[in-house]
Formats: sequence, structure tokens, C-alpha cells
Amino acid sequence: MKKIAVMTGGGDCPGLNAVIRAVVRSGVSYDIETLGIRNGWQGLVEGDLEPLFGESVSGITSLGGTILGTSRTDPFKKPGDVEQIRNTMKTYSIDALVVIGGNGTLSAAYELAASGISLVGIPKTIDNDIFGTDLAVGFDTAVSIVTEAIDRLHTTAESHHRIMVVEVMGRDAGWIALMAGIAGGADVILLPEIQFTIDEICQDLKARYLAGKKFSIVVVAEGTHHEDIAEVTVPECNRDDCGHEKFVGVGNLLGKELEHRLSIETRVTVLGHVQRGGTPTAFDRVLATRFGIMAVEQIVAGNTGCMVALQGNRVGTVPLRDVASRIKPITPDLYYLAKTVIQGRR
Ligand code: F6P
Repeated sequence: MKKIAVMTGGGDCPGLNAVIRAVVRSGVSYDIETLGIRNGWQGLVEGDLEPLFGESVSGITSLGGTILGTSRTDPFKKPGDVEQIRNTMKTYSIDALVVIGGNGTLSAAYELAASGISLVGIPKTIDNDIFGTDLAVGFDTAVSIVTEAIDRLHTTAESHHRIMVVEVMGRDAGWIALMAGIAGGADVILLPEIQFTIDEICQDLKARYLAGKKFSIVVVAEGTHHEDIAEVTVPECNRDDCGHEKFVGVGNLLGKELEHRLSIETRVTVLGHVQRGGTPTAFDRVLATRFGIMAVEQIVAGNTGCMVALQGNRVGTVPLRDVASRIKPITPDLYYLAKTVIQGRR
């Protein structure tokens, strides 16, 4: 093994640079050269790469985003792109790839690995919905950011006796809403995985109000659907190039509906990309470092076609075929925790 190349694909998140640094420095310890691929799969298709050295990745652990840039390019969308990837790997004499990505990027990685390209995946996404790993890089930071936002929103909620609706990211799974909702002491937590009726929510909020709690915090994941507030099936024209749904803003629709039904003043905060920005937590930096080093070790050991994963407290691997095209929904035990602390007031 002489040369590897590392890329970041999909949405950015805190911790990506810590992974890149760990990959490069682990490579140095094995006398492996590392190239950085710019802008995800796009850089591999276009041959846009740069050499990375132990020294050139100095001081990036605490930086958000990705020094390599990213894109949502899917190499299986355009005919000829996969062939281009093979050409680039040949031109640069790349033996194996380290692919840092979320569900879309890792599904493409699986297809490429199945076609004979040596690679190892590393899970990252603030949504934490990647199958096979307990945690993905970026999630811990996002939960911290959202928890702090909820803490701050409590101030206005209490002072003005309002309902504060907080819309957070979570396309297919409500991990951020659930964990930050528990940590921030939310009064209602709405997730794509859990069925609810607006009547039930109104009853809960009204009961709080009658019991003397003149404010409420409602956390809702962006991918939550309900026929009373948003279309449940998404028409094709409401999808982006990757087939992802373009969200209509469930937080605002929900806020309007609650205010209308309860006649309690309501405000909505959509946290958006703030959740993905800025410096990673210490936990994410350490996880990123563990994943980056493990990925290079797998390549050296000849164990490719897999993704490194956190399983309990240890870092292991799972075959990419088990990860591709699957989503990891929230677990019922955590939802039970949330329900228990919310309902335990009565
Ligand atoms: O990649 C996950 C995610 O953070 C989703 O929760 C969110 O819907 C999406 O990215 C937003 O991506 P973009 O940066 O393309 O708007």
C-alpha cells in the first residue's frame, strides 16, 4: 500500500477536519501518502486532488466544515462518471479511498466497492441516521448547539408566557430533536418516526397551561409530517437533484396551527444550518480521530468494502452492504425516556 485518497461528501458537519487529520497522520505512520479529493465525488470525477502532509493538516482539529470542500454529487447519476473515477485513481496511482460521508455518499461508496474499488467508509452526519453505527461524527456537536438554543428559548418562553416551537434538522430520523429535546427539557417532541395528532398535542399543552405552566417548548424535526400541517406524500417537484425532499417548514406550519387552536401566543425558531456550523465538541473530535485511524488500519489490513462504526464503546467495522440504502430510526427506549420525563409532571 503506497497511496490513499480521502474525501468528504454530502452536507458538511463539525468534526470532518479532525477525521482528515487523523487519516493523514495515521497514513504517515504507515509510510502511506495521502491525497485530498476536493468537493466529494466531484473531485474524483474531475481529477481535482491535492497532496496532504502531516504538517499541512496541523491545527485543523477544532475547525468546522471541511478543508477539502464537499458536494452532493452522485457518481451514479451521470453516465461515464464511474469510469472517470477509475481513470483518476489510475492516473494518481491511488490504491484505496477513505470516504467520509452520510447515507447518500456511503451508498455510492458501497456500489463502487462492489465494482472492485478498494475503500473504507467513515460515518458522518448531524442527523445520526446511518445504519450500523451508534454515532456519526457531527451529531454530538449538533445536539449541544440545539440544547443551548432550547435553554436560551426558555427565557423568552417563560417571560412572555409563549409557546416556542423549535424546528431542528432531521430529514428521515428525529435523533437531534429527541436527544436535544431530552437534554433541554422540551415539553413536546415531534419526530418523523412517531405518529401523533394535533389534538393530542393541543390537549397536552392546554393541560400544562391549566396546571399553571404558562409557557411551553415544542421541538419538531424538519422531516416530521402530519396531514393537518403539511403534505404527507411529497410530490416529485418538491425534491432536489438527489431526490431529497425540499422541506416546506413544518415548524412555521405547526406554530400557526397551535396558535390558532389554543389562542396562546406562539413563536417559531428554525435553527437550520447553525446546527451544522462551527467548532466540534471534544467528543466529536475524539470520535473523528478514532474513526480516521481505524479506517487507515483497515486499509492496511486489506479489510475494505466496510465502514468504521461505533458499537457501544468500541470502534469496529460493518460491511457497507449492510449500511447502504438504510436508515437508522430512533430507538424506542430513548423515546420512552423522553415520554417518561415529559409526562411525569402530572
Ligand atoms: O445531511 C443532513 C442534513 O443536515 C439534513 O438534516 C438537512 O435536511 C440537510 O442536511 C440540509 O442540507 P443542505 O445543506 O443541502 O441544505
